[in-house]
Amino acid sequence: MKPIALTGIKPTGRPHIGNYLGMYRPALSLMQDYQGMYFVADYHALTSMHDAKTLKELVYEVAASWMALGLDPDDAIFFRQSDIPEIPEFTWILSCFTSKGLLNRAHAYKAAVDENTAVDRDPDEGINAGLFYYPVLMAADILLYGSDVVPVGLDQKQHIEITRDIAEAFNRTYGNVLKVPEGLIQESVMKVPGIDGRKMSKSYDNTIPIFATEKALRKQVMRIVTDSKRPEDPKNPEEDTLYTLLSFFVSPKRLEEIHQLYVHGGAAYGELKKELADAILSHFGDARSRFEALIQDKSYLDEVLLEGAEKARQIGKPYLEAARKATGID
Ligand code: TRP
Repeated sequence: MKPIALTGIKPTGRPHIGNYLGMYRPALSLMQDYQGMYFVADYHALTSMHDAKTLKELVYEVAASWMALGLDPDDAIFFRQSDIPEIPEFTWILSCFTSKGLLNRAHAYKAAVDENTAVDRDPDEGINAGLFYYPVLMAADILLYGSDVVPVGLDQKQHIEITRDIAEAFNRTYGNVLKVPEGLIQESVMKVPGIDGRKMSKSYDNTIPIFATEKALRKQVMRIVTDSKRPEDPKNPEEDTLYTLLSFFVSPKRLEEIHQLYVHGGAAYGELKKELADAILSHFGDARSRFEALIQDKSYLDEVLLEGAEKARQIGKPYLEAARKATGID
């Protein structure tokens, strides 16, 4: 078998073009050289998403997105995290090799604590232990299948380091039982600005969702924040959100023309936004129709995910058994 590239995506929002450029596309491009394992991380979502109906719906949306964007379930192993009963079991075992201090320093937990202390609240107010354990659950996701590489965005770098620390701690105790994975951070594709110029992220509410209705998608593109320069004024393309987004979707030749319009005058923001919306709709045309069909057929999605889970469990079981055996709990 080829080496394993594994990645998960948390179903906490509707997939947007930042996810596509920073995560779906680079992950899928690895399929040539790796056995891809991709999953919907619903247990991770549960740390923050406590609306059952929304969580369920988003799991299907994310699953349909993967497949609409090119994941072939006959080729990749594609599954839902909560269909793998070995995961919570392995999480517990690994937690006993995770120093608490390491988790205290994990970015997401630390940020939540800092937010509390900044306003004189109890440091742990409103923070569930699931958020604290998040990195251990993620280590279980990665280590269960002996993953070789984990393609992730820069924001997940610390989680990969924690995973490696946990695997190394386990191996120091019991010998070489767990495979220590490598993070794979594909630098070039990560910086996708949202419509307000900050990083595109659901938490900033600045995303362009890929599978929204055409009307909603166009409306969102028209909301991209620009300065108040007139069309004839020269502008700096390098610091412009609209230009950056165009650069992902228009041809190199057209981009060069747009560059000239920015530098020498003639770039009308309204027109360019329309062009961007057209380019996005055309780029995702096929994917959007596939998504529509898939999201209507949830029993098919369930079937695909369960089949994938069976394959994933077969790969994971020997690693869990080896870990149990090493600890004496077998
Ligand atoms: N924490 C990741 C994120 O928020 C999602 C995730 C869960 C993941 N388990 C994983 C990513 C395992 C890679 C490998 O994006």
